[in-house]
Amino acid sequence: MANPRRIRKIRKSMPTIEGAGVHLKRAFGFRYVSEFDPFLLLDEFHSEKPEEYSMGFPWHPHRGIETITYVLQGEIRHEDSLGNRGIIRSGEVQWMTAGSGIIHKEMPHGDENGALWGFQLWANLPASLKMMEPHYREIKSNRIPELLMEKGLKVRIICGEVNGVEGPVREIFTDPEYLDITVPPGEKFFHITTQGHTVFAYVIEGSGYFDREKDPGAFEVEGERYLDPAEDFIIGQETLVLYGDGDSIEVTAGDRGLRFLLMSGKTIGEPVAWYGPIVMNTQEELKIAFEEYRQGSFIKYKGRKN
Ligand code: CO
Repeated sequence: MANPRRIRKIRKSMPTIEGAGVHLKRAFGFRYVSEFDPFLLLDEFHSEKPEEYSMGFPWHPHRGIETITYVLQGEIRHEDSLGNRGIIRSGEVQWMTAGSGIIHKEMPHGDENGALWGFQLWANLPASLKMMEPHYREIKSNRIPELLMEKGLKVRIICGEVNGVEGPVREIFTDPEYLDITVPPGEKFFHITTQGHTVFAYVIEGSGYFDREKDPGAFEVEGERYLDPAEDFIIGQETLVLYGDGDSIEVTAGDRGLRFLLMSGKTIGEPVAWYGPIVMNTQEELKIAFEEYRQGSFIKYKGRKN
């Protein structure tokens, strides 16, 4: 490839408390709209202490965005104001397009050891789709292709395409990719990326080099120390890598192997007006949304599942 992507920024996720007191790690959020467009926020929830998560996320509205929940351990029970309800179990994904609005609650429950582990990504919607009818995609684990590649590499394809295999989530405006990639110690993962799309990786286990040259070049660091103390420029868990533009990425796992999420999408490039769980284009639209929520006219469609 002529133009491999270089690392633009590295950021260790930051402890945050959300909902009714859920302890989580925020990889990025409110301050980063222009850099991560079309994505708004990525949270990791990972705890073996139910007192850190069981209060959950009681009733709250969303409008103008998609929330994408991926559970590795434990489960998230959800319910919305229209009577839809379900459970996102280990290995499953809920890709929820809030569109014009849903009011829901999301309640985490640990597994038999009290462990909860998962991620919630927020993706923006363009102005033309912000007021669309809400839509849920609930993806069972067996619908997510798990590609076993040479040298023990493994890729779960939630959205996007790898080696001609396509993930179950399709027809999303920003043409996103959402991959869960496991690379054995010392092995490489190479992936072609669409030029101009925003691309980032988030390390969930182990560590690795995210630059082909193993020399990350000039980049920005945010937050606390992110490097493996044993070896320079090897990036460890709970750390986000935002790439600059280019046509491909190459990632090499460290001695302990590596598991990371890779996400990409086409930028939307519109103004963003964001308050809490509602993201619109203008302050006026935000004001209307919160007024409607107070007055009980927030919900525009009676709703349906799938
Ligand atoms: Co929510």
